[in-house]
Amino acid sequence: MPDQGVTDHRHATVGTEGNVAVLCVERKDARLSLNALELQQVFRRDAVELPGDEVDGGRIDSVPRNAPATARRQKMPSQMQQVLRIVHRVTGLGPARRRARSEDLLRIDRRGFAKSLSVAAGVVAASRWTTVVPVPSVAAQTAALKDLVPKGWLIGAALNQRQSDGVDAVAVDLVTRQFNSITPENLLKFESVQRQPGAFTFDAQDRYVAFGADRGMAVIGHTLVWHSQTPAWVWEAAGGGLADRATMLERMQTHIARVVGRYEGRIRGWDVVNEALNDDGTLRDSPWRRGIGDDYIARAFEFANQADPGAELYYNDFNLATRPAKRAGAIRIIKDLQQRGLRVDAVGEQGHWRLDTPTATEIEQTITELRATGLKVMITELDVNLLPAAERPAPALSTGTPQRRSLEPPSPASNPFVNGLPDDVQQALARRYADAFGVFLKHRDGITRVTFWGVSDGDSWLNRGRMNHPLLWDRQRQPKPAFDEVVNVLSATSTSSR
Ligand code: XIL
Repeated sequence: MPDQGVTDHRHATVGTEGNVAVLCVERKDARLSLNALELQQVFRRDAVELPGDEVDGGRIDSVPRNAPATARRQKMPSQMQQVLRIVHRVTGLGPARRRARSEDLLRIDRRGFAKSLSVAAGVVAASRWTTVVPVPSVAAQTAALKDLVPKGWLIGAALNQRQSDGVDAVAVDLVTRQFNSITPENLLKFESVQRQPGAFTFDAQDRYVAFGADRGMAVIGHTLVWHSQTPAWVWEAAGGGLADRATMLERMQTHIARVVGRYEGRIRGWDVVNEALNDDGTLRDSPWRRGIGDDYIARAFEFANQADPGAELYYNDFNLATRPAKRAGAIRIIKDLQQRGLRVDAVGEQGHWRLDTPTATEIEQTITELRATGLKVMITELDVNLLPAAERPAPALSTGTPQRRSLEPPSPASNPFVNGLPDDVQQALARRYADAFGVFLKHRDGITRVTFWGVSDGDSWLNRGRMNHPLLWDRQRQPKPAFDEVVNVLSATSTSSR
């Protein structure tokens, strides 16, 4: 019999985020989510003892709860069956108890659930899962960033699919209260929209756009032309090898026309070209460039403008603040577009920063130089990586196949904050964000948007098997000192200058 106080059902669902499968175990006040890469890592490491018997519970996608157990098992990929075993293991539901309560397999008492999630958190610390541990609720936050930013500024966050689908209710609530702009973390990338030639998918994408529209937010499109998260067919000739210029241009135009055209008037602006530069300021040897030539960038802006003449068009890249040569390269790209008479409205510095780099002076210099082109400046993917450089390369972004070596657990030295952030680092992070926003505010007339790359620490792409703490909200979705500091800096400016 369940203990007293059992009120909530808890669901294990399997969905996709971009092209990445995600398992999500969810209850009103707690959530555990794992992507396929993390799952594979756990399976191969035997980090969790698995009960030997079959699991016949769980709500998996469209598999009906009342289908015979064997049918349900057949419809589940074997990997997901294993996942459910882990879920049941960490939630403390043993096989005997499951059989006894076969109609209500996922009912569990509050204490047991909390305990099982802390077991999961322990597993996470020892292995490579990311998790969200139990929380009472998001504390009522009196301050909202969107009410404090200078007039005309957008302040945003990148949403994952669980968020834009409304599944992650706590994050939805937080985003709705705090932000006036959203960017899709993966959903509008080429591989998410057109994995196979001509086969466009727009379901989750439409929900993302509706999420923003329903809340009166500025909806951003990310991204049209990039060397990563783009399927190989886009660049391949029918007989193998690189496609010719005309073929590749045709594919580029078709994609842009279809995607930008679909959201005409509803997506405020597009990252038309992403990451075209090397650190030394030369053009990256992207397959787009190899097939089309250097003017692939210009063509992309031309096609985007044709598809929605009302949308803002952006060039977006990283390391513009830390690498003056790369910044100069970005300025050359912008000037080239301008000389060709093409429209480009803003340049995005992604803002994947660290505690000590770039310096406030470098950030300021970057804004000043980029502004001199006449464009607006946006900080489009802000986060502060607190972990030491990875010991080995992260898995390739554009394929779901993890590299074998990455299955090794991270060393303690490379993963120092598994038990939370020590106070001095927490304070340093807060100062870092305060200083950065101080610079942004000093140049507030030139900046039109600041977007964080993720909502809370548990959502961040920077975890990648380790425990990072790069954002303003922690894994419990509680505001960190960094949030308070940003609020302070924004409040001081809004009272002194508005
Ligand atoms: C990242 C996402 O956050 C991850 O979920 C995904 O696996 C890889 O891409 N620069 C960009 C973003 O322009 O699209 C990247 O997003 C982060 C780096």
